[in-house]
Amino acid sequence: LVIVLDFGGQYNQLIARRVRECGVYCEVKPYTTPIAELKAMDPIGFIFTGGPNSVYEDAAPHVDPAIFELGIPVLGICYGCQLMAHTLGGQVTAAQEDTAREYGKTRTYYDTGCKIFQGLPAEGTSWMSHGDYMAMVPAGFALTAHSDNCPNVAIADASRGFYGVQFHPEVNHTENGTRMIRNFLFEVCGATGDWTMGNYCKSTVARLREEIGPRGRVLLALSGGVDSSVLAALLAEAIGDRLTCVFVDHGLMRKHEGDEVESAFSKWKVRFVRVNAEERFLSKLAGVEDPQEKRHIIGAEFGYVFRDEAEQFGITDQDFLAQGTIYPDVIESGKGDADVIKSHHNRLLPPEVVARFKGVLEPLDLLFKDEVRALGRELGLPEYLVMRQPFPGPGLAIRIIGAVTKEKADTLREADAIYREEIAKTGEDKNLSQYFAVLTNSRSVGVMGDGRTYDYTLALRAVTTSDFMTADWARIPYEVLDKISVRLVNEVKGINRIVYDITSKPPATIEWE
Ligand code: XMP
Repeated sequence: LVIVLDFGGQYNQLIARRVRECGVYCEVKPYTTPIAELKAMDPIGFIFTGGPNSVYEDAAPHVDPAIFELGIPVLGICYGCQLMAHTLGGQVTAAQEDTAREYGKTRTYYDTGCKIFQGLPAEGTSWMSHGDYMAMVPAGFALTAHSDNCPNVAIADASRGFYGVQFHPEVNHTENGTRMIRNFLFEVCGATGDWTMGNYCKSTVARLREEIGPRGRVLLALSGGVDSSVLAALLAEAIGDRLTCVFVDHGLMRKHEGDEVESAFSKWKVRFVRVNAEERFLSKLAGVEDPQEKRHIIGAEFGYVFRDEAEQFGITDQDFLAQGTIYPDVIESGKGDADVIKSHHNRLLPPEVVARFKGVLEPLDLLFKDEVRALGRELGLPEYLVMRQPFPGPGLAIRIIGAVTKEKADTLREADAIYREEIAKTGEDKNLSQYFAVLTNSRSVGVMGDGRTYDYTLALRAVTTSDFMTADWARIPYEVLDKISVRLVNEVKGINRIVYDITSKPPATIEWE
C-alpha cells in the first residue's frame, strides 16, 4: 500500500490512478490524518500531492514532521515537494517575475543517476504549475533536475528515500511521468506490482461480508448505470438474496430507460423493486433554477424514497443502504481540500435517512470509472452493461438549464433519443465515452415553413475520456451532425436551433450544470 497524502491539488486523483496503473494499491488520505493512523496502515511509501497554498503562509496545510522519521520513502509533488523542503529546513519563497515561476509545458533536464529518473532520457517536457520556488534546499538533498528558468526542479536525499519534484509527473503532458512514479514505487519503495482487480474483488467481497454480518440486509440504490450495476453484482456475490435493489424512476430518465432497467434486472437473481416517483420529484423541483439546489433536492428526495422503501421491506436499523458512489463523485463533491465542483447527488443524503440505517456502504468509492468497469468484468457482467455510458443520478434535471418542467423533460427526452439513435446508426457510439443533448434556456428566432418561430436552442455534447475527470470533445463527422440537426428541428417541437459543444474538461465540465 502506498498512501497519497492529499493537500488539495486538482490532479490528486490522477496520482492515485498512476500508482494503481503500476499495479500498486494506493489510497488517498487527507493531510490531517493522524500519523498513528497512517503508520498503522503500514505503507511502503508516501506521495505528497500538490495543493493551492504556499507553505510559508500561516494557514497552509502542514504535516507532522514525525512522518519523516518513520523510515518510509516520500515523493513530494509540487506543493508536496515544497512542503518537504520547508519542513526539513530548506526555504521556499514566492518566485519573482521572470525567474522561477512556471506554468505549463517546460523543457526540463534530469540527472539520470537519480533513482526516479533512471533509465529515462536526460531531457524532456514536464508540466509545471507553481508560483513558489525552493530558494534553499534542505541539508542532505541534492538537486536532480533543472529547467531553463529554474535551477531547483527536483531534489533527492537517496539515503532517506526522499524525493521531490516541482512539476507534475502524473499529468500526461509530462513526458515519462508515469515512469518516474514507477521508478519511485519499484526502485525506491520496493513495490512488487501485484495489485490486480481480481485480488481487489476478492478482498472487497470478504470485507463486505464481514461488515454486513451473517444476517444483515442491504437496500441498494440502483440506477441501472455502470456503477450501481457493478455494485449490485458485488453485493450479490457477498450476500446473495439478502440484497434488495431499489430503482427510483424520478421521471427524469432517458426515453424507455425505466423499462429497460426493469427488464434487465428482473432477469437477475436479486430482488428488484421499481418505484415510480415522477410527480414526487417534479413537484419538489418546480421553479428551482440553481444547479446545486436541484442536486440537493433530488439527493434528499432519493433518500426519502429509500427510507420509505426500507419501511415497506421491514429493513431494520441493523441493515444497510448501499450506493454506487465512485471516486470522482467523492473528489468533485469536495471531500479533502479540493474545491467543490458539483455535489454529486448520492453525497447528499439527509442525515435522518442515514440514521435510519446501520450504515451507508459505498464500496466503490476509491475506484475510477475504468476500474469499476474492470471490476464489473471480473464479476462476469455482460459487456453492454459494463460499457454503458454514464447517466447522472439527477438525470435530465441537470441537462435542462434553469427550471425543470414536465414539458421540458419530454422535449429533451425526445431530442436525446433521436441523437442517440442517429449516433448508434453510424457506429460513432463506439468512439464516444458519453454523449447527450442539453436543453438550454436560450430562445432565438427561426423560420419554419413561412412562419416565425421563437424556440429553444438544443446543445449536443459528446466527449471522449477514460476517467471522466478530464475529457476532450469528440470530433463527430459534420455529415453525422448535419443529419442529427435536421431530424431534431423537424421532429422535436419547441426546438429551432442546434449547437455542438466544443469545450474540453477542464475548463468546462462534461454536464452543463
Ligand atoms: P462532470 O459534469 O462533473 O461529469 O464533468 C463527470 C461525470 O459525472 C457525471 N455527473 C454526475 N453523476 N450525479 C451523478 O451521479 C451528478 O450530480 C453528476 N454530475 C455529473 C457526468 O454525467 C459524467 O459522467
